[in-house]
Amino acid sequence: MRVVLGVAGGIAAYKAASLLRLFTEAGHDVTVVPTAASLHFVGAATWSALSGKPVHTDVWSDITEVPHVRLGQSADLVVVAPATADLLARAATGQADDLLTNVLLTARCPVVMAPAMHTEMWEHPATQANVATLSERGVHIVPPASGRLTGKDTGPGRLPEPDELYAVCSRILAAHQGAPAPSVATTGAAEPAEGAEGVVDSLTGQRVLISAGGTREPLDPVRFLGNRSSGKQGYALAEVAAARGAAVTLVSTVALPVPEGVRVVSVETAEQMRRAMLEGFDDADVIVMAAAVADFRPADYAAHKIKKPADSEDAPELRLVRNPDILAELVRHRGDAAGPVIVGFAAETGDADAGVLDHARAKLARKGCDVLVVNEVGTDKTFGKDDNTVHLLLQGSSRVVDAGPAPKQVIAGAIWDLVETLL
Ligand code: CTP
Repeated sequence: MRVVLGVAGGIAAYKAASLLRLFTEAGHDVTVVPTAASLHFVGAATWSALSGKPVHTDVWSDITEVPHVRLGQSADLVVVAPATADLLARAATGQADDLLTNVLLTARCPVVMAPAMHTEMWEHPATQANVATLSERGVHIVPPASGRLTGKDTGPGRLPEPDELYAVCSRILAAHQGAPAPSVATTGAAEPAEGAEGVVDSLTGQRVLISAGGTREPLDPVRFLGNRSSGKQGYALAEVAAARGAAVTLVSTVALPVPEGVRVVSVETAEQMRRAMLEGFDDADVIVMAAAVADFRPADYAAHKIKKPADSEDAPELRLVRNPDILAELVRHRGDAAGPVIVGFAAETGDADAGVLDHARAKLARKGCDVLVVNEVGTDKTFGKDDNTVHLLLQGSSRVVDAGPAPKQVIAGAIWDLVETLL
């Protein structure tokens, strides 16, 4: 495979040398495209010697071969490691002021970026907005690890180890090679997105059904029982899947801006959501239950607004009944037949008996889905925020993939990266 390894100007550039080695030893043809700033950390001679190819940072060398267009167009994978705050900003705004940014604009293959920088730079709203933008366009963002940074400081911002990055790239390459050609027609009402910026199409030909938001269980015409789910993670999943070429149907209880190319089915109650999900089942290759479904609903619905008694301080007592467990029903519906990949979510807190992951493993076994996305919830975590931190568990495997803290689009990208390996 033809791999372009972009290296931006951060101290972690030295780790890219080991990543390059892993690619070349596996037989890939790698062209290294460093930024001019990165040469302060690792010189062009190192990249040339290790890749066996000339190395340029600008668009003015080998001009007859038009490298600024050819390299990106012919690549099977572009990986930028480390991706600095500056590189992310230039990529997000579509600048083309050096060879690497030209490659990023001309590439039509999967693009992987591994941000690495100081924690403050990573957490800055400008950087977070840039990674969210890139992720929405289908770029695979590998969130930075937490740990020792350049100096004595520690925190999120470290470049993951080269073998981890290599594993992510291999999975994406494999999934991309296995993906049907972009011209495959899809059925169902949802139209595959136009590839947004045309960056990746690793979900082309896949039909995705996602639920999002908290259900509302009405008590009377004006009141309902609800929860604090904002629906943002479900919408981010829909947005990233559409950017990767999937035909996406979103069964939603909330009214957020609809991502381009996504078909929305609006519902309110758990029962309406259940029906919509079962209706979409046969046309889905992947089902994601990101919604916060109320486990209980009022036993009775009052057709008229429930009034305060005029002559006493009494309050009515609410009787609740159980709602169906939609996720468990979808898994039962699939039975032993080959069917869609099913992804569940779990909102968990640790307690005196067990930690978050112990509870999550028990839930994965109980629900029988293929992937469980585990949110750690607390008073200030997850609900309504633009950022998220999750652990991804796979049925039948002890492996845990950690993602975040990162914008919900980046988390969505990590979830799709994992799901794509199961398709
Ligand atoms: N879910 C569902 N139907 C329900 C409740 C939950 O489909 N009635 C789905 C959610 O969409 C999520 C997963 O099940 O994908 C986990 O939901 P959660 O509320 O965390 O788990 P519960 O099974 O309700 O377990 P508990 O509340 O006891 O932790």
